[in-house]
Amino acid sequence: MASSPSTLFVRLHLLILLLCNLYFLETGSTSLPYESIFSFGDSLADTGNFLLSGALAFPAIGRFPYGETYFHHPTGRCSNGRLIIDFIVEAYGLPEVQPYLALSRGKVFQRGVNFAVAGATALDPAFFQGRNISRAIMWTNISLSAQLDWFKEFKSTFCNSQKDCATYFSKSLFLVGEIGGNDYNYAFFQGATMEQVRAFVPIVVQAITTAATTLIEEGAVELVVPGNLPIGCSAIYLTFFYSPNKGNYDPENGCLKALNRFSKYHNSQLQRALESLRQKYPQAKIMYADYYSAAMRFFHSPKHFGFSSGTLSACCGGGGPYNFNITARCGHHGSRACTIPSTYTNWDGIHLTEAAYRYIASGLIEGPYSMPPMRSPLKN
Ligand SMILES: *[C@@H]1O[C@H](CO)[C@@H](O)[C@H](O)[C@H]1NC(C)=O
Ligand SMILES: *[C@@H]1O[C@H](CO)[C@@H](O)[C@H](O)[C@H]1NC(C)=O
Ligand SMILES: *[C@@H]1O[C@H](CO)[C@@H](O)[C@H](O)[C@H]1NC(C)=O
Repeated sequence: MASSPSTLFVRLHLLILLLCNLYFLETGSTSLPYESIFSFGDSLADTGNFLLSGALAFPAIGRFPYGETYFHHPTGRCSNGRLIIDFIVEAYGLPEVQPYLALSRGKVFQRGVNFAVAGATALDPAFFQGRNISRAIMWTNISLSAQLDWFKEFKSTFCNSQKDCATYFSKSLFLVGEIGGNDYNYAFFQGATMEQVRAFVPIVVQAITTAATTLIEEGAVELVVPGNLPIGCSAIYLTFFYSPNKGNYDPENGCLKALNRFSKYHNSQLQRALESLRQKYPQAKIMYADYYSAAMRFFHSPKHFGFSSGTLSACCGGGGPYNFNITARCGHHGSRACTIPSTYTNWDGIHLTEAAYRYIASGLIEGPYSMPPMRSPLKN
């Protein structure tokens, strides 16, 4: 690759960061459970890459009310505040994880990098061509494999030898996902049938385990691989697949049964694939993060979690039975945000509120939604 001035700048910057980091490794305390965190995935984990990449497909992410609750400005996170990854880094005493694309903008890499991009798919864009899924609805082309390319690019400037890198990565936590949800979203929202989308599942799961394998081969020892959320409880799916047939809904919680069965199908395939990965790499600790069950608690007993305004309607939206309106989505003209987001599970129809993400994160870290359990958090 030719070194344009901007790549040169990135390289110089990374060199400086490398030096700072070596200094840190020499002198820093090493009593934290992890020295750093690396993250891959989509909008559930993106802390700013999509926004920094231009956010052409969804510019509202750069406007209020995104970010209103915690950061008090839009950060590119698809929520009103922090995401699961933010609560994980807090619990382990790590600083806020910077998006990869911020590294060239003077952000200091100290203890991890986030490669996740909102809208990203597990499979490469080429997969969707020829399957009646238009590229036009895909938010980004930075799929999981493109994120791994970023990781390798980063690594080549960060540590010198394979051994150095392996030593460093052995003390890191790798969050691989959630990813794959968009592969299904794009297909479902373009009219693919359940049967067609189910046929993607083994291919998506394969892409996730291939990514995990690559990271293990690079020296990752502890990995968290999340499954999919219950998409049948999400306002966008409830709106698109609205049905007068009451039989389509779970009477306990109002979610769409077939779509939740689909999420469980993906999750069971993923768990099975992770089990084979554990056999293949017994030295690695491969944790499955059960986002589905951690989130299902809200829909079963919303009041217990303070979700007094309900779990199915979005806090921020432009009307309709679930407050999701495709022509007046959160951040767009015609939508508005609720006054107390922490009483809602769903933020913008697609993503969850900070309050919901906090409960999912604590359900992983304190149990029982990580299998095997994650390390104990810091006690302060
Ligand atoms: C694509 O759409 C066409 C027309 O709706 C249909 O005939 C064809 O089976 C679809 N192909 C796939 C792979 O879904
Ligand atoms: C994504 O698309 C942009 C713009 O078309 C292009 O420059 C870039 O190389 C693509 N990246 C990948 C990983 O396909
Ligand atoms: C959705 O938003 C459009 C544009 O603001 C508005 O005209 C329409 O009435 C809204 N639909 C519902 C169901 O609120």
